[in-house]
Amino acid sequence: MKVTVVGAGAVGASCAEYIAIKNFAAEVVILDIKEGYAEGKAMDLMQCASLNGFDTKIVGSTNDYTKTANSDICVITSGIPRKPGMTREELIGINAGIVKSVSASLVEHSPNTIIIVVSNPMDTMTYLVHKTTDLPKHRIIGMGGALDSARFKYRLAEALEAPISDVDGMVIGGHSDKGMVPLTSHATRNSIKVSEFLSEERLEQVAADTKVGGATLTKLLGTSAWYAPGAAVSGLVQAIACDQKKIFPCSTLLDGEYGLSDLCIGVPVVLGRNGIERIVDVPLSAAEKEHMAESAEGVKKTNGLLEL
Ligand SMILES: NC(=O)c1ccc[n+]([C@@H]2O[C@H](COP(=O)([O-])OP(=O)(O)OC[C@H]3O[C@@H](n4cnc5c(N)ncnc54)[C@H](O)[C@@H]3O)[C@@H](O)[C@H]2O)c1
Repeated sequence: MKVTVVGAGAVGASCAEYIAIKNFAAEVVILDIKEGYAEGKAMDLMQCASLNGFDTKIVGSTNDYTKTANSDICVITSGIPRKPGMTREELIGINAGIVKSVSASLVEHSPNTIIIVVSNPMDTMTYLVHKTTDLPKHRIIGMGGALDSARFKYRLAEALEAPISDVDGMVIGGHSDKGMVPLTSHATRNSIKVSEFLSEERLEQVAADTKVGGATLTKLLGTSAWYAPGAAVSGLVQAIACDQKKIFPCSTLLDGEYGLSDLCIGVPVVLGRNGIERIVDVPLSAAEKEHMAESAEGVKKTNGLLEL
């Protein structure tokens, strides 16, 4: 299993580190446009190998795509992150050009790869990869919902005063402050609906805190977060690499599912060796359906800014 991570910045390096620590990949290539940067991160991470007990080989590359050749999975984290007060949508001007050229170079050297898009605005960047490469739709995956769901579970555990391992929940919809749809109607504490423990008001607060999860961290850190994004990507990579058939909410091209078409947006999918193996249809409450439709409108509006 060979994995390439483009962008050796905060998220890319965290992602490479978590993949290496989980010890399922033979090789991780980190590529960045900044001279020597990816090589430096790769060397630093390799010097963790004996300390953390992994055998994954980590290689750095300054924009040399021959080193990425025949990657099974490629992760795109290259591009600018938001600063406090910015929305993810505001990044489109710079990131669209980067994601378009990076995905073309990746596919040229790894025509059979599966691409995981992380750069923001992620749903629109995933759609851009669909429009500009000839990869089949099950091999283009946007990562946002896995992170948003982790943030949802964090907020649920906080409200329930319960350990996170007792809590389950999922966020679908667009990966944006307004577009996320935390599925409170499906969230459980050890298989009991969370609405048995929390008032409607408290659940609304949990959903609201989840939706601004990224913005809250950006305000505290001065840039966007990286540990949980890296961990979330590594979860998707592992599910594909190890053919786990696990369900994650991922951004994928819809063709009628959830009543939506011609956009990429977060829905539950089964991830295995072929990438997205199935889209899972879950029943939504009336309010969740309405939020999903509004979310899709927002994503389509951002897609309209792409110069295709
Ligand atoms: N989808 C998500 O859930 C999620 C979560 C966190 C961050 N993000 C996004 O991920 C992206 C990266 O965030 P970060 O905090 O790691 O930023 P960062 O600035 O730390 O790293 C980005 C890296 O990309 C590199 N880069 C720029 N253009 C490149 C190119 N053409 N080829 C190769 N490398 C190039 C830069 O040199 C830099 O090292 C941002 O767009 C951010 O908004 C998404």
